[in-house]
Amino acid sequence: MAAQDGGAKMAAWARGVRGLLLDISGVLYDSGGGGGGAPIAGSAEAVRKIKASGLKLRFCTNETQATREKFVKKLQGLGFDISVAEVTAPAPAACRLLKERGLRPHLLVHDDLVPEFAEIDKTNPNCVVVGDAAENFSYANVNEAFRVLIGLEKPVLISLGRGRYYKETDGLKLDVGAYMKALEYACDVEAEVVGKPAKAFFESALAEMGVPPQQAIMIGDDIVNDVGGAQQCGMRAVQVRTGKYRYLTRELRETLVVAGMAERRQLGGFPGFPVSVFLLHGAWFAAGPPWCPGELPVPRDLQGPAAPLGGRPTSTSC
Ligand SMILES: *[C@@H]1O[C@H](CO)[C@@H](O)[C@H](O)[C@H]1NC(C)=O
Ligand SMILES: *[C@@H]1O[C@H](CO)[C@@H](O)[C@H](O)[C@H]1NC(C)=O
Ligand SMILES: [Mg+2]
Repeated sequence: MAAQDGGAKMAAWARGVRGLLLDISGVLYDSGGGGGGAPIAGSAEAVRKIKASGLKLRFCTNETQATREKFVKKLQGLGFDISVAEVTAPAPAACRLLKERGLRPHLLVHDDLVPEFAEIDKTNPNCVVVGDAAENFSYANVNEAFRVLIGLEKPVLISLGRGRYYKETDGLKLDVGAYMKALEYACDVEAEVVGKPAKAFFESALAEMGVPPQQAIMIGDDIVNDVGGAQQCGMRAVQVRTGKYRYLTRELRETLVVAGMAERRQLGGFPGFPVSVFLLHGAWFAAGPPWCPGELPVPRDLQGPAAPLGGRPTSTSC
């Protein structure tokens, strides 16, 4: 009964939805490890179900170290029904922007990403594009990008993300944002960031899908960049409790607890994804433990003290 009720409410919430945007890392798989990552339980099946349902689907990723071809091959190897044409990533979004504005980039990106810019004129550069170049962030490479940028009459710096650092199996790694900041500082410019949570990034995914924001839902593990970014574009969004989801900030916790008492409306789970959805001051949030049919518990980590960063693992089964 309760499950049916939850299902009906979820159906009402999702009424009019024709398309889904899916984050990849932390939603479909966890990166790192021997095979380059491990699929998250149930996610491959969820992708199959979404496709079978006739909903339009785009995958939205921040990945800027490898071409989409390489990245997609890895995901196919992990059992996902996914193709390059279904993926929205920062590099192709940057290519569109470069073409629109007649910009010719000097690239400071990972060698594996260079093929994404194959069709872009790179002669006589009038801007710099920086991505997560990892080991290609040598002094020589960064300095060369700096020289190009500072030599421009009107320096244009485009960054494929603004992450500070990320974690891999062998430890923390400086991300593109740290190098972006170095170039901004040296040249006294402000970078234009392509990627989540930029509006243009979500809009290009929607355009590729041919669905307006009011008819789309974004599903991600990052409350700010996935959920917040999508909501800024007029989409509905849900947060999954996998990937980088760890705990809620104090601010959000307090709001949610209050809302939890006053206006909490459990809407059930999203097919295949362990989420709960809440209405919060007019905005939709997903939080709480994996949704289990018939259960409406107040999320345990909304009651107790904050879990430490990287804290307790989140369960993904009922
Ligand atoms: C990028 O890094 C790889 C691996 O260290 C190296 O083989 C390659 O020469 C580098 N490319 C550039 C342009 O620095
Ligand atoms: C993706 O990139 C955006 C903007 O470039 C950045 O702010 C954010 O931290 C990244 N989002 C995720 C989900 O990693
Ligand atoms: Mg993610």
